[in-house]
Amino acid sequence: MTLKVEEMLDIKGKTCLITGASGHVGQALTFAFAEMDCNLILLDHPNSDLIKFKNKLNEKFKNKVSSIFCDLESPEDIAKIGPFIEDRFNCLDILINNAAFVGSSNLDGWATSLENQSLDTWRRAIEVNLSASFQIIQKNKKLLEKSSNASIINVGSIYGIYGPDLSIYENTKLNNPAAYSVSKAGLLQLTRWMSTVLAPKIRVNSISPGGIFRDQPEEFVKRYIEKTPLKRMGSESDIVGAAIYLSTNLSSWVTGQNIIVDGGWGVW
Ligand SMILES: NC(=O)c1ccc[n+]([C@@H]2O[C@H](COP(=O)([O-])OP(=O)(O)OC[C@H]3O[C@@H](n4cnc5c(N)ncnc54)[C@H](O)[C@@H]3O)[C@@H](O)[C@H]2O)c1
Repeated sequence: MTLKVEEMLDIKGKTCLITGASGHVGQALTFAFAEMDCNLILLDHPNSDLIKFKNKLNEKFKNKVSSIFCDLESPEDIAKIGPFIEDRFNCLDILINNAAFVGSSNLDGWATSLENQSLDTWRRAIEVNLSASFQIIQKNKKLLEKSSNASIINVGSIYGIYGPDLSIYENTKLNNPAAYSVSKAGLLQLTRWMSTVLAPKIRVNSISPGGIFRDQPEEFVKRYIEKTPLKRMGSESDIVGAAIYLSTNLSSWVTGQNIIVDGGWGVW
C-alpha cells in the first residue's frame, strides 16, 4: 500500500526521548518533535537548564512533556530512564542520543593541544558521548520493541568521520579534542552494530552535523566557510530535517545509515 507523504510524516502521539534536550541542538529538536505532536521525554544533566526549558516549551505547546535529570556519566542514573518511561508511556518510539561533551564544553584538558589533553577527560568523554548511548539503547530495548516503528537516532559529528584541520583554529581559543572525534567515530560504528542486531523491530541511524555557528571568532568562521561549499556554517535548525526524516515512515526502509549534514564540508 502506498502511503501519502502526509501519512508517512505522521508521528502524532509517538513517545520521543531526547538527551541533552536543553542544549542548542536539543532545543531545536525538541521544538520540532513538539510541533509534530509527540509525547516528549526531555533528559539532561542535573546542572542544566532543563526545567526552565521545559516551562518555556509548555507555554507554547500542550504536548505531554516529561523531564528527567540524568548524569550520563552515572550508570545508576541511566538505569532509571527505563522505569521512568515505562511508568508514563509504557513504550518508546523515538530515541535521540544527542547529549555530548562538545568542543566548547568547559572541561580541564579538553579543547587544547594534544600534549595538554588529559586522560581523565578523554575517559569521561567516551563515557558521555559513546558508552551512555550504548547503555540507553541496551536498557530500553524492550520499550522500543513495543513500538510499531521504533527509530533510534545517534547524533555524531563530521569529526567522527574526518580528521581535523587544526589550521582553522589558529590564534583562537577553540580546538578539536581527540576524544571528541574518537567518541563520535565509535558512535557511528555503534549505529551500524545496533542496526543489524536490533532489526527488524528497531531502526538505528545517525546524523553527523558539521560546525554550527555560535558566535565563534571571526577568523575561525571565515576559515570554516572557505572550506564549506555552501559557504556558511550550520544552524541548529539544519539538523531538524534529517531527524524528522529518520524518525518517520519517510525512512521506513532505512537503517544503519549516517546522514552527513555539513554544507558539503566533506565533499571536496
Ligand atoms: N555544535 C556543533 O557545531 C556540533 C557539530 C557537530 C555535532 N554536534 C553534536 O550535536 C549534539 C548537540 O550539541 P550542541 O551543539 O547542542 O551542544 P550543547 O553543549 O549545547 O548541548 C549538549 C547537551 O548535552 C548535555 N550533557 C553534557 N554532558 C552530559 C551528561 N554527563 N549528562 C547529561 N547530559 C549531558 C548538556 O547539558 C547539553 O544540554 C552533540 O552530540 C554534538 O556532538 C554539534
